[in-house]
Amino acid sequence: MSAQDMLKVFITRRIPQEGMKILQEDGRCNLSVWDSDEPVPRAELLKGVAGAHGLLCLLSDRIDAEVLDAAGPNLKVISTLSVGFDHLAIDEIKKRGIRVGYTPDVLTDTTAELTVALLLATARRLPEGVQEVKNGGWSTWKPLWLCGYGLSGSTVGVIGLGRIGLAIARRLKPFGVKRLLYTGRQPKPQAQEVDGEYVPLERLVSESDFVVVACSLTPDTQGLCDKAFFGKMKKSSVFINTSRGAVVNQEDLFDALKSGQIAAAGLDVTTPEPLPTNHPLLTLKNCVILPHIGSATYSTRGVMAELSANNLLAGLTGTEMQSELKL
Ligand code: NDP
Ligand code: DGY
Repeated sequence: MSAQDMLKVFITRRIPQEGMKILQEDGRCNLSVWDSDEPVPRAELLKGVAGAHGLLCLLSDRIDAEVLDAAGPNLKVISTLSVGFDHLAIDEIKKRGIRVGYTPDVLTDTTAELTVALLLATARRLPEGVQEVKNGGWSTWKPLWLCGYGLSGSTVGVIGLGRIGLAIARRLKPFGVKRLLYTGRQPKPQAQEVDGEYVPLERLVSESDFVVVACSLTPDTQGLCDKAFFGKMKKSSVFINTSRGAVVNQEDLFDALKSGQIAAAGLDVTTPEPLPTNHPLLTLKNCVILPHIGSATYSTRGVMAELSANNLLAGLTGTEMQSELKL
């Protein structure tokens, strides 16, 4: 293939080798990579994407009209190394006839596993306990010390029983969960598998001992968990979010945690990311915050990279994608 026939591809970050290998071995792409573990600065993104036929991006890259204009008319495909696509201006992309690849399914188990880990760590106060061991706060076994909340006999409410929501429910049920409530845009037949009860949001929030947010970020879900939401939760209930930070109003969450309106919260996602180290939520013992590591296992990130590379190639060559977002 002559140099001028090569397809120009811009990759916005260093990605796992599994994905790079596929693109390099394919041989049809002229690859330009933002060769860093840190996000590409906006100006470099606009420069790098100019004239590109394909863009492989991450959830931290906002792909809007400005980026699409900077790319120009060559751009055929955007492949994101994520299942979430709230960072993509879908209307603009659709208008320009650009195809979108994403990474559903391959990270479902890993993310559900992390959600369960975060729920248990938060409810049973593991980070506090570890800290007490290290700082000498562990004086003896004390009947009233570091007590938390258990899943056995509890009611769990899942907001968004999609791929990950269902995988979370499947994992939680064997802990002895008594009732599994869920909410979303419509009832899901697959909820039967976990004896899921479809209920309005209000009922889910007020009846659950554990509220787990697993929905996608949309205009409807943005800011869904606010003062009124936390105000309906039980004082003994635990809030978990592994979807997107913007689903939560963090000031309202802070107030709910500080005032004892709810027992604890575990977040894998925040606004912004990273959360500044002086953020008020970080001053609370009953708030466990992880740095968006839901899909972070070596193998899952490798498979995500493979899938996004293959999606990109399919988009470039006009063939069927393994996972194409229906626009
Ligand atoms: P799915 O599309 O399978 O699930 C999304 C769910 O959100 C659907 O069940 C959908 O319901 C539900 N939903 C949409 N709108 C609403 C609403 N208004 N109220 C309640 N529920 C709603 O996606 P996945 O399960 O694969 O992924 C879910 C999200 O998890 C991703 O979008 C991403 O943001 C996040 N994620 C986070 C990770 C992390 O590292 N922390 C890793 C991977 C994903 P319906 O079907 O009725 O529309
Ligand atoms: C996603 O894929 O949307 C996650 O947030 C990261 O894996």
